[in-house]
Amino acid sequence: MIGMPISDLPERILIIGSPSRPLVQSALRGGYRVGAIDHYADFDLCSMVDKLIRVQSPLDAFTIGQELVDKGEYECMVAGGWLGVESSILNHTPNFELPYNIPYKYAEKIVDKKNLQKTLKKMNIPHPKEFREENVEYPAVVKPRVGAGGKDVVVVRNDNELSLSLERFEKNEVDYIIQEYVGGRDASVSLVVSKEEAKIVALNEQLIGTDFLHAHNMEYSGNITPLEQCVPTTVLSTIERMCIGMGLLGSCGVDIVVGKEKWWVIEVNPRFQGSIDTVDLSLNISLFDWHMKSFHNLHLPECSYNSVWARGIYYSPVNIRISSSLSEKLKEMWKKGVVRDVPQEGETYNEGDPFMSITVKGKRRDETIAKLREVASQVDEMLKRKFEKL
Ligand SMILES: Nc1ncnc2c1ncn2[C@@H]1O[C@H](COP(=O)(O)OP(=O)(O)O)[C@@H](O)[C@H]1O
Ligand SMILES: [Mg+2]
Repeated sequence: MIGMPISDLPERILIIGSPSRPLVQSALRGGYRVGAIDHYADFDLCSMVDKLIRVQSPLDAFTIGQELVDKGEYECMVAGGWLGVESSILNHTPNFELPYNIPYKYAEKIVDKKNLQKTLKKMNIPHPKEFREENVEYPAVVKPRVGAGGKDVVVVRNDNELSLSLERFEKNEVDYIIQEYVGGRDASVSLVVSKEEAKIVALNEQLIGTDFLHAHNMEYSGNITPLEQCVPTTVLSTIERMCIGMGLLGSCGVDIVVGKEKWWVIEVNPRFQGSIDTVDLSLNISLFDWHMKSFHNLHLPECSYNSVWARGIYYSPVNIRISSSLSEKLKEMWKKGVVRDVPQEGETYNEGDPFMSITVKGKRRDETIAKLREVASQVDEMLKRKFEKL
């Protein structure tokens, strides 16, 4: 694969993911022809792809995807969000051909947060201290050993909160990790890594637990690109070295917390990140295309930010079924370009489910946040008015 000439870049791609929409949109920007296999069938996703197959499980997605590639309908499949999240699917990935995804033997180690702690320690990279249950200092963070989207990541402030949280994890039979809480700006670094180099593409702010998007606890609620805060170049070159050392490939990301004088690596994501939209828009690139090219060792151009973009993940504040009039209103917003991942008529959402994305642009962070807040409150109004109890 390495060193292939440009003519070998595939053109017809099958994207497997949940949600696949950000990846699909980025691939279209890059000029690829795209089909998708997803758990969701949002209105905008359906309007973009040649073919959308809706499945219930990641394993079904990979199995059906491989059949379509074997039949020659697509030249290859590329996995997005699912790879690296579902540890059970990681055990199956060797059965499938994923020439444009990091080999599972690397991904498997990186997505396990306990294992990552050990790797970061060995590599001498700053990271939050891990606590054993008997020696926790507060505030502390409890989170699943393998997870995504900040789901079930909680801050605990005393013994009582800790034991309540641990009980919940044990009841659900989810392995967890306890860490010191480190304070600073929540950020992420987007990189494209080839066998030869790691290129930092963008620095993003991470929106975590954003109240006006109805996110709970430390739930991931989107990004702002670029990050307003400066990050020293020594930190950035350490991150680049770390990614090469871990054997990452293609588009991947590193979650960091940046304090006044210190910084910490929180998580390494050996896969596409939720910030694809804001990175593409803010730099006017196709991160998907850069990902594909990095597997062929092709040169990636220099580029600079043209504006500040935010993508907010709006979580449903109510239990709702999408009526036809609400669906029409959401489509109107989509036509104006302020929302993505638009729910279809008849779909149902429970309170707290990711409902839709809001994408806005501004000249500066403050202006962009204000616009995000304004669109979120418009959606609040619509949901209240169109609310149909389940
Ligand atoms: N130990 C910690 N101290 C401070 N913030 C944290 C800590 N762990 C996680 N976070 C915050 O919560 C977010 C989600 O946690 P993360 O470990 O990345 O889990 P996930 O795999 O669900 O994304 C991080 O991006 C970071 O902003
Ligand atoms: Mg994370």
